[in-house]
Order: sequence, then C-alpha cells, then structure tokens
Amino acid sequence: MPSIAQSFDNESLPKDKLIAEYERVRAQTMRLTEALSAEDMMLQSMPDASPAKWHLAHTTWFFETFLLQPHLAGYRTYNNAYQYLFNSYYETVGERHPRPQRGLLSRPPLEEVVNYRKHVDNAMKALLESYSAEIKAAVTIGLHHEMQHQELIQTDIKHALSLNPYALGPDTNAAESSPDSGSTGNPEFVHFEGGLSFIGTDAESSFAYDC
Ligand SMILES: [Fe+2]
Repeated sequence: MPSIAQSFDNESLPKDKLIAEYERVRAQTMRLTEALSAEDMMLQSMPDASPAKWHLAHTTWFFETFLLQPHLAGYRTYNNAYQYLFNSYYETVGERHPRPQRGLLSRPPLEEVVNYRKHVDNAMKALLESYSAEIKAAVTIGLHHEMQHQELIQTDIKHALSLNPYALGPDTNAAESSPDSGSTGNPEFVHFEGGLSFIGTDAESSFAYDC
C-alpha cells in the first residue's frame, strides 16, 4: 500500500485539471441540494446525521482552514465564528460546536452559507494559480473530503425525509440530484454471476478516500 505522498507523486494532475476538478466537485455539491428548501437543509434527524446546510459550510471550512489561511497571502477569513461552528473532528485546529446540536444552527442562514462558499471559491481560484505539489496534495484531499460529504448529504436527507409522512410523495425525492436525470423507471432485479468482486479505486495508481 503506497503512502499518500507516493500516491500523489504517481498521479498526474496538472494545474488546469486540478482547477477543473475543483470546480466540478464544488458544483456537484450544490447540485445535490437543488431540490431542497432552506427548511429541509436545517434538518438533523439524529446525532449521527448532519443538516445539509452544515455539510455545505463544513466542506468550505476545510478549504479555508487547510488551504487559504496557511497558503494564500492576505486572505481574509469570511467569519471567525465559522471556525467553531463548522469544524468537525479536527481537534488540532480548535474547539467545535457539538455534533448533536448542528440542527440548532438556524443562524447563519442558508444564504450566508452560500455566500461563504462563493467567498472561499473565489479565493481558491487565486490560490490554485500558485500551483505546487503541496497545494495539489491538500486540494486533492479537500476534494475527496467534499465527495465524502456529498454521500452524507444524500444519506442524511433521505433519513430525515423518511420520517416525514408528507415528504413521501414521488415529487419530493431530494436525493434525485441530476437536473436531467428524469424518471428512475420501475425498479427491477439485475442478475449477475456470483463470486468475489472488487469495487472502488485502484489505490496503487491514484489517491482516493472511501467514497
Ligand atoms: Fe468532514
């Protein structure tokens, strides 16, 4: 099993591709929430789940904390309170808001969190121009971290809406994220040969988290 550093060395990800990948992953996160209202995005159905709004802010906090603050000269933090509100388990970077109480964060409002994302994306654009091996490694981790949270956005809102009898109609499938996905059709069984199968990335040649 190669180290993370070796994985990055083996992976050819030039500046333009890294920028494109950053934009793709960040836009995909927003697409996942298109069908959700601000009220939906406040929901925390259990301590192990988080509101979609929190996921939007936390993934942004990651780039602000580990990329912009240490690496972009003159960067101005969007709001110092967010360092506490949207930290998760990174004890080394300070205290954090209790996880079971993330659903109580009606403030900042969703609009502010979206502005926070734009603020960080603009600054990241400038940082990505100063491409280096260190920046590439940290950005790649940030993007895979965000992809993990894309999975959580979907599983968390599915659980929350499953508890609401009003949300069980066919028009409120919040996890149906792709704008051109259309109908999913009738579910049916798929037959395939049994046996061992390998899924996911080939860790020998590229970096990936469990997502
Ligand atoms: Fe996280």
